[in-house]
Amino acid sequence: MGTRMIGTGSSLPKAVVTNDDLSKIMDTSDEWISSRTGIRERHLAKEETTASMSTEAARRAMENAGVTAQEIDLIIVGTVSADHVTPACACEVQAAIGAVDAVAFDINAACSGFMFALNIAHAYLQTGFYKTALIIGAETLSKLMDWSDRSTCVLFGDGAGAAIVRADDRNRLLAFDQGSDGIKGSVLACPNRSNNNPLVETSKELSYVHMDGQEVYKFAVTTVPVSLQRTIQAAGLTVEDIDYFVLHQANIRILQAVAKRLKVSEDKFPISLDHCGNISAASVPILLDEMNRQGLLKSGMKIALAGFGGGLTWASAVLEWDA
Ligand code: UT7
Repeated sequence: MGTRMIGTGSSLPKAVVTNDDLSKIMDTSDEWISSRTGIRERHLAKEETTASMSTEAARRAMENAGVTAQEIDLIIVGTVSADHVTPACACEVQAAIGAVDAVAFDINAACSGFMFALNIAHAYLQTGFYKTALIIGAETLSKLMDWSDRSTCVLFGDGAGAAIVRADDRNRLLAFDQGSDGIKGSVLACPNRSNNNPLVETSKELSYVHMDGQEVYKFAVTTVPVSLQRTIQAAGLTVEDIDYFVLHQANIRILQAVAKRLKVSEDKFPISLDHCGNISAASVPILLDEMNRQGLLKSGMKIALAGFGGGLTWASAVLEWDA
């Protein structure tokens, strides 16, 4: 049994914050942010939550795929910024859309979250016991940012992207590669609550995301091209056969470096980071949905996807588009 992606959806918060807006509240500039990263603006949540954006993205993906909530038997959300420790964001989505027969759970693979969810869904569908999966990458990263740390807070945004994948006799998830390197985990980290019991003195200080940007940059530009090459080869293809490279949107310089290493035109690397910033697990599905709605994805096209980030984690896949 194979996997076929049949619909996509996304949701961004209403509020848009430009680089110029940020330069009014911290020591930064549009020039620094756009020249170092390619980011010009990002959406930040006010009343939106990780679950509300996930639900909206899910409804749009279901509509795009022509799938009802009753048909969905698996919901996986990749997120590091769920609204609750429990219930999982996936369970909140399940309740909101009324997917009463679904198994629902979250996974944490940071910026690779959607890609890991795709691979997990593929494994479930292959068993033959599950038919239709809703996979989501969703983040409200703005709540995890230290807004006095200009080196990280200007990079990230909020949003959610979703896709419906269905079991199919002909497999369109042509190949997959994923990996983790926990030894380097500290280069992109965000502590959870510290111990809180009668045996310890509890710190009341909140913890925020800390990133060693240059280390993460080096990791991305070395690991992602290798992973993509491995996946493309496993799919029986060459880089020339790939119509689009849909990569996690962290920095335009990373996309350019990957294109250069693969000897592929940058035109094959669509971007959303200019108007979304880095939305961790949501980056890949939001970009895929934007491309789908712009009519860029044609039947038979080969799309390479890749996520990379906290963990450290990375994943790539080659999809044949047939929605
Ligand atoms: O999604 C997970 C994956 N994450 C990534 O892939 C991120 C990968 N890393 C990067 O994209 C880049 O390393 C950054 C965009 C995070 C940083 O770019 P950089 O070229 O490595 O800059 P830097 O950290 O070396 O900082 C250069 C200078 C420093 O000043 P000095 O020490 O040279 O005087 C910083 O203090 O830029 C300064 N700086 C800023 N200036 C204005 C740092 N942040 C800002 C800012 N505005 N927002």
